[in-house]
Amino acid sequence: YANIKIFGEEQAVLTSPPLVPPPVGNRPAKKLYMEMEIIEKEAEMADGVSYLYWTFGGTVPGSFVRTRVGDLVEFKIKNHPDNKLPHNIDLHAVTGQGGGAEASFVAPGQEKTFSFKVINPGLYVYHCATAPVGMHIANGMYGLILVEPEGGLPPVDKEFYVMQGDFYTDGKFGQPGLQPFNMQKAIDENPDYVVFNGSVNGLNGENALAANTGESIRIFFGNGGPNLASSFHVIGEIFDKVYVEGGSQINANVQTTLVPAGGAAILEFVADVPSNLVLVDHSIFRAFNKGALGVLAVSGEENPQVFAGEIMEGIYLPEGSVIQNMPKSELEIEAPTDLSKADRIEAGKKLYMQACFACHQSNGEGVPNAFPPLAQSDYLNADVNRSIDALLYGLSGEIEVNGKKYNSIMPAQQLSNEEVANVLTYVYNSWNNNGNLVSPEMVKNRRK
Ligand code: HEM
Ligand code: CU
Repeated sequence: YANIKIFGEEQAVLTSPPLVPPPVGNRPAKKLYMEMEIIEKEAEMADGVSYLYWTFGGTVPGSFVRTRVGDLVEFKIKNHPDNKLPHNIDLHAVTGQGGGAEASFVAPGQEKTFSFKVINPGLYVYHCATAPVGMHIANGMYGLILVEPEGGLPPVDKEFYVMQGDFYTDGKFGQPGLQPFNMQKAIDENPDYVVFNGSVNGLNGENALAANTGESIRIFFGNGGPNLASSFHVIGEIFDKVYVEGGSQINANVQTTLVPAGGAAILEFVADVPSNLVLVDHSIFRAFNKGALGVLAVSGEENPQVFAGEIMEGIYLPEGSVIQNMPKSELEIEAPTDLSKADRIEAGKKLYMQACFACHQSNGEGVPNAFPPLAQSDYLNADVNRSIDALLYGLSGEIEVNGKKYNSIMPAQQLSNEEVANVLTYVYNSWNNNGNLVSPEMVKNRRK
């Protein structure tokens, strides 16, 4: 396939889940231009629970990429200037160093372009591969790229894009509020949430999939992980065909298909009778207790067997359970200028949990070999102006913290003088640091 000739070029359409771009059909291989923007944003994980997702294109999973074997893809990746972190992309459909990871490494406010030829047909996962890799994937940085064979996949009536992922939060399943990522639970492979399309309601209620009786249906199913393999099953249906592991081999008449983390499968069936088909991970506690459950509502002429929809809404998604409005962050309210040290520490802690914890962790311990500790940091305590500068202008190059070397990039933080003062006062007064009080004037003096 590496020698397939290219005929013409076009801008590729990328879609958000559960939609997929139109089939490639019979077209020849082309040069395809595509663009993806990385967006870090808060969104709903479950009723009353929100999470800071890191996304390819603003959704979890990220935008669906559809190509044909032999296509030459010119891929532009942009990291939104409001983002806090550098990211990149490793596409499993790419033959080449890191699946594109090194070539696509972008800091906030930057863009990178790289190109690759898709030479193996199949359905492939892509994901962020920036350190700590597990954390970027755990926050939602994955999606699917389809490489259709010559002549395209056989036509069907409806196609859907569904991806499973496991999430790790400080709070237990359903505990309200903005829930931070929990590194220890991720390492222990003990998720609070296992969901389809990024949240407990990702394929429920207004997000449920819909089809009509008699329609042939194809689901492009992927598993972002980061940890769990999926025992993917549709209650009330049998897969007529499964493209095993997303490759070229087709299995027939399958009840449950195993999809590994970082893997995918293409599933096909005909919706014969009207019913609410229920998509689950058949490792069943995940479905009924952690969110891995979605609905494909099949409507038809008559005899609607409303078997799963109502049971589900009654038991697993109780109405009005914990719906809450997120209180507005105090930081968005105009900050007073002469706070006491205690007030600065309190305000700074909230800010830390938004701006810093993703890398330096909520306990200030950092992440080995990636993000230095702020807890009892000799580097931090030695020079307050240097710390202020790190926030104002970012920090890069080799540094040594508590005897360990780091050579990475901390992006500049988009914070006001007041905010820098508060967050640093919090840091200096936590975890056995030296108790410095950082004032807004000190920050102002460091602005160039
Ligand atoms: C280094 C503070 C946000 C990544 C540092 C240092 C400080 C600091 C004081 C100096 C080394 C040390 O004492 O351990 C903060 C604060 C933040 C924040 C208060 C929030 C306002 C972030 C974020 C990231 C990050 C979001 C991840 C993108 C790093 C890295 C270094 C570093 C990689 C080492 C840089 C190098 O190797 O030269 N940070 N940081 N920091 N930070 Fe942050
Ligand atoms: Cu990332």
